[in-house]
Amino acid sequence: MKILITGGAGFIGSHLAENLLNRGDSVSVLDDLSTGSFENIRHLTHHPGFSFAIDKIENSMVLDRLASAADSIVHLAAAVGVQLIVDRPTETIETNILGTSAVLSAARRYRCRTIVASTSEVYGKSEQVPYSENQDLVLGSSSKSRWCYAASKLIDEFLSLALYDEYQLPVTVIRLFNTVGPRQTGRYGMVLPRFVNWALRGEPLLLYGSGQQSRCFCHVRDVVNAITGFVDKPSKTAGQIYNVGNNSEITIENLAKRVIQLSGSKSIIKYIPYEEAYGAGFEDMKRRIPAIDKITRTLDWAPIHSLDECIADIIEFEKNALL
Ligand SMILES: NC(=O)c1ccc[n+]([C@@H]2O[C@H](COP(=O)([O-])OP(=O)(O)OC[C@H]3O[C@@H](n4cnc5c(N)ncnc54)[C@H](O)[C@@H]3O)[C@@H](O)[C@H]2O)c1
Repeated sequence: MKILITGGAGFIGSHLAENLLNRGDSVSVLDDLSTGSFENIRHLTHHPGFSFAIDKIENSMVLDRLASAADSIVHLAAAVGVQLIVDRPTETIETNILGTSAVLSAARRYRCRTIVASTSEVYGKSEQVPYSENQDLVLGSSSKSRWCYAASKLIDEFLSLALYDEYQLPVTVIRLFNTVGPRQTGRYGMVLPRFVNWALRGEPLLLYGSGQQSRCFCHVRDVVNAITGFVDKPSKTAGQIYNVGNNSEITIENLAKRVIQLSGSKSIIKYIPYEEAYGAGFEDMKRRIPAIDKITRTLDWAPIHSLDECIADIIEFEKNALL
């Protein structure tokens, strides 16, 4: 199969490219390297089935050429990361809405099987956990830029499902929950690579809020296996939304303690109020747990890697990066 991965030089995209090439697919990557990196895909460039274009998804000529040669598109390119979203809301909205619209138009032109990455952020402030795909979504006010990521991804979901309903485009929406593993960068606010980096340097781990907010972390290898499953099962999953994540929960404070323990660090934990980190009025969810019965039923998929494995793999990756 020929698969186009937008955002393929990013964290999840580069692991997906590797996985698809290993099983014999051809992969082309379209990425502007804004948050991704050439280093993530350097090791793939000699593979005969691999090609890449450094450009924006909004560049319709390049996108058209790549889509015309693809059987499937996995659309991962997006403005990502809490810090980046709060700092650059205009870019976030434009990339996530206009960019996705361009990708879906190209998919429609060439009838490509398409998978669109959405996010658990669309559940917003809902306290009804575990989150299941059909429940109501509770977003905060549009005066708080933090919500523009969720809102823009939600428009992507609406557009994807509309194209399925009206034009039978075989598109599937996946709501990714916190995904972690080697190559994820902490630069844009991702918690685990930041914690590991601070722990390895012996610096304090900065913990925003009380630390009692909890999250579920899924190894990127598990997420990539799920995405590959969706690539392979278009007829079963088109026109549907699926949560993809691990449902075992940990508070951020305990996560910090576990990172310190597993890395053998002497770092301390320092608590920072949300307002200091992200500005006044920042809202965060207390818990975010995926219901995964739908994906398990459809793909016979469940996460197999533990949180300790995730942390250990990130420690090893970050240690090598520090050498
Ligand atoms: N990592 C997570 O925990 C998580 C959680 C929920 C959803 N997601 C979604 O998964 C997808 C991949 O995220 P990731 O964690 O790999 O982040 P990432 O930042 O590593 O990957 C995004 C990639 O898209 C590229 N990109 C951004 N704007 C672009 C543009 N206009 N044109 C071309 N390329 C562009 C970036 O350079 C980067 O390589 C995103 O859609 C994100 O919203 C990720």
